Amino acid sequence: MISDIQVNKPAPIKPGNAMAVFTRTTDVKPTIEALEANKQVLITAFYSDGLSLLKSLKVHLTKKFPNQSFREQREFRAAYRKLSNRILLEVIDHTLVVKKAPEIGWLKKLYPEHTNFLLSFPQVQGLNSSWQWYENGISIPVLRNKVHPYYGTYFPTRFDHLELFDNWLKRYEGPKKTAIDIGVGSGMLSFQMVQHGFQKVFGTDTNPNAIIGLTEFMGDTKLSRKITLDVASLFGKFKQQTELIVFNPPWLPQAQNLDGIDEAIYYNKNLFPEFFAAAKQHLLPEGKLVLLFSNLAKIANVATDHPIETELAKGGRFQLERCFKKRVKNASKHTKRDQHWRSEEEVELWELVHKEG
Ligand SMILES: C[S@@+](CC[C@H](N)C(=O)[O-])C[C@H]1O[C@@H](n2cnc3c(N)ncnc32)[C@H](O)[C@@H]1O
Repeated sequence: MISDIQVNKPAPIKPGNAMAVFTRTTDVKPTIEALEANKQVLITAFYSDGLSLLKSLKVHLTKKFPNQSFREQREFRAAYRKLSNRILLEVIDHTLVVKKAPEIGWLKKLYPEHTNFLLSFPQVQGLNSSWQWYENGISIPVLRNKVHPYYGTYFPTRFDHLELFDNWLKRYEGPKKTAIDIGVGSGMLSFQMVQHGFQKVFGTDTNPNAIIGLTEFMGDTKLSRKITLDVASLFGKFKQQTELIVFNPPWLPQAQNLDGIDEAIYYNKNLFPEFFAAAKQHLLPEGKLVLLFSNLAKIANVATDHPIETELAKGGRFQLERCFKKRVKNASKHTKRDQHWRSEEEVELWELVHKEG
């Protein structure tokens, strides 16, 4: 049952005993000192007061951590995260109490039974931008309909890998009865497969929000009878063999001491070996295993090996049928100097089949 799945959301904050108050007439210096002394600061008048306090906090921390070294930058970010999350906003009846605040539908959807609580300013900013994406939807060049990514769910901002998959699906001439999409996210690949005539798609994701969001989005439309979902790792409850397995995994290896561990972006060392072992069991004899990947980790020098090449060389399970690569269009002409390697970025589509013999 979908209603049994626990959604990921910022936990409501309990007010501390001695909360300071900040408005546009409050002195900034003692407010920042209060934050540094582990006190909570409540924004009571205008939403923009919170924005200006955040700005002052940034200026203050830039003076404290002036160096551009990797270590200082990390300390800067950690301090900013800690202190900014002590700046609070009050929510009453699913609405922010301050004036001129954005309307954020998540406050009702994600907290139906909470009528009076606090959230931190950065949490509210995250909810707000996610609400804009969700409300307005995203047009994807290869999909007929817009996608509406749910709070806390991965969605792509560049689409080259989806174009690669679209071209692959156009040329695919095998049967189209069933497919499995590992890590469905906002559903891009599953929607592509349905659009190209697949009759039944099974999708999993370890992130409950992905499954809740897609279930809500499909409602009881025709799509909901074509796509069946499970909140689980890898193949979850799906035991059947299918003619197509697709996986757009995280593209970067998990390093220690990372600022945030996001399962949509970073993979741990067990993910690929476990995936390939399970995929061997779930792929029909003539089936295709399609992985979308990128050379991002290699060109950014954060990985020495390529998990798909490693599997092909050492796994003994699959062999390469074809590999397509596509240069990523530059998102901006003003690519930062320290990101010059981005111009080398390529997305990859790997088509594997069972190893012969
Ligand atoms: C890069 S995103 C791709 C999402 C979507 N398929 C797309 O192409 O837009 C990777 C997804 O895999 C999910 N994921 C990560 N590890 C997983 C695992 N072990 N089992 C199932 N899903 C996983 C993440 O939560 C995330 O939604």
